[in-house]
Amino acid sequence: MKVSTTALLPLLAATAVLAVPTSDQILLNELGTVTNEWQHAAGDILREGERRVMKWIDGGREFVQQHGLTYELVSHPAFSEHHLRMTEPSLCDPAVKQVSGYLDIADDKHLFFWFFEARHNPEEAPLVLWLNGGPGCSSTTGLLFELGPCRIAEDGKNVTYHPHSWTESANVIFLDQPVNVGYSYADGSTSVNTTPVAAEDVWAFLELFLTRFPKYAKLPFHIAAESYGGMYAPSIASVVHHKNLGLAKNMPEFAPGLVHINLESVMIGNGITDPYVQMASVPDAACEGEFPVFDDPQSPQCQSMRTKVPTCQRLMKSCYTFDSKFTCVPALLYCNSQLMGPVMQTGKNVYDVRRSCDRSKDGDLCYKELQWIETWMNLPATKRALGVNPSIDFQSCNMEVNQAFAMQGDGARNRAKLLPELVESGIRLLIYAGDADMACNYIGNERWIEQLESKFHEEFAKTSKQPWVTLDKGEVAGWVRAAGGDGFTAGNVTYVQVHAAGHMVPFDQPEASLDLISRWLADVPLTLNVSDFAGRTPFGGW
Ligand SMILES: *[C@@H]1O[C@H](CO)[C@@H](O)[C@H](O)[C@H]1NC(C)=O
Ligand SMILES: *[C@@H]1O[C@H](CO)[C@@H](O)[C@H](O)[C@H]1NC(C)=O
Ligand SMILES: *[C@@H]1O[C@H](CO)[C@@H](O)[C@H](O)[C@H]1NC(C)=O
Repeated sequence: MKVSTTALLPLLAATAVLAVPTSDQILLNELGTVTNEWQHAAGDILREGERRVMKWIDGGREFVQQHGLTYELVSHPAFSEHHLRMTEPSLCDPAVKQVSGYLDIADDKHLFFWFFEARHNPEEAPLVLWLNGGPGCSSTTGLLFELGPCRIAEDGKNVTYHPHSWTESANVIFLDQPVNVGYSYADGSTSVNTTPVAAEDVWAFLELFLTRFPKYAKLPFHIAAESYGGMYAPSIASVVHHKNLGLAKNMPEFAPGLVHINLESVMIGNGITDPYVQMASVPDAACEGEFPVFDDPQSPQCQSMRTKVPTCQRLMKSCYTFDSKFTCVPALLYCNSQLMGPVMQTGKNVYDVRRSCDRSKDGDLCYKELQWIETWMNLPATKRALGVNPSIDFQSCNMEVNQAFAMQGDGARNRAKLLPELVESGIRLLIYAGDADMACNYIGNERWIEQLESKFHEEFAKTSKQPWVTLDKGEVAGWVRAAGGDGFTAGNVTYVQVHAAGHMVPFDQPEASLDLISRWLADVPLTLNVSDFAGRTPFGGW
């Protein structure tokens, strides 16, 4: 639906004290007349198919009523086809300010987001965008299973408070993208099946959100992603960086109202970013890693897998060179079936090979909690509170989206090549990996970051693993290699191996994961052992 802002402007002065109408007050008859109480307030009544949509202005803000839900509508002079349609829920962690709703793009694409303020000092805490992967999986996996302020509980009937939420240290946005993921939807047959297209939409979302909430636009901004998010995050960061550069050159005539996005870092957990390097590491992790899948490195399965590596890499090389679906689809199919296939066939949970995967009990994604999330997200009360059309069916992972990306060979593309420019512009890069994961294993992650051609390459190559000691417990939670900052910062290019964690690090190691991201966001060294200093300060204090 097109919004005619001009028609609404005259209402501004007249309706400054109006409250938001309740749903029964807003019932419209066939002719679209409104109960007298609201007659003077109703702005446009627009036909949207057979539905009627009402808009009004209150306190300088525009509101819209749809599916019996009331939203604030946010537009932006630089985006004629985009709107934010949002509400302020109070579930999950009612003590903090929240915003949820949609980015509507050109009438047919609708991306769902859910934002939580930090639990402490939200005016100063950094802003983090969190993305899960798949492709096709909802970021509410991160929210309700990993790092959000509440976690799924009681078979999906309820959620519980999460003490080690990343909102302890950051304001966090969870975004379901691309369309048809989670609560996000498309009208008609629109679909998004490549990472670069998805990245442009995310940038538009950030612009609208930060323009509506300028106080968050001042904060340092970080993109955090997991798994296939290792493909998304470099692409989004690259789009944001280039838009920032364009903005710096052309302001303000070129792009009225656009804000600079303070992108400080990219954080990728158990990601897939450089498939050429990472696919070849599967036999190493599965046969000789910290948590091997096959007990004997010389077993027939291990030997057979190793013989597949050269062909996989030859195909990946073609994909990197030609960057087309004709070369990337075969690479993806071959490497997945020949290298991931044998791991899957063991019946272990590929996301955490310390566990087995009983699909009849735990579902296709091997964790019963992900089924609970579907239950909770499909409760009418949850949808209503979050501003979601009750007819939307929520799935943790949408396999059609997954297939659509696969048919473009998107998952075989080289996204690491976007990163040198970013790190050389001062945007920091954290790659961390739980070492019990076989889907995007830690060995492959360490290798690609070590090979990344940037001005930090040489320094990184010379680093050795240092223990990462958590501040609270003084325990070794993993190993760190960091280049840049001379040990006074968390590093410009940093790799962390997280001990005893699977694919979803914050699920397996909640305290350590909060320690990691809090120190990363504050840009303080991860290798410092604070207990080293305790009781040894010659100066007694003030
Ligand atoms: C969910 O848990 C909260 C906090 O423990 C409780 O107050 C609430 O009643 C529960 N809701 C349901 C539907 O069980
Ligand atoms: C490394 O990161 C810091 C922020 O910690 C930044 O100020 C600096 O410019 C970066 N170094 C290089 C060489 O880009
Ligand atoms: C941290 O420092 C304390 C005190 O010096 C020491 O006892 C402890 O072993 C150190 N921890 C690690 C992991 O090095």
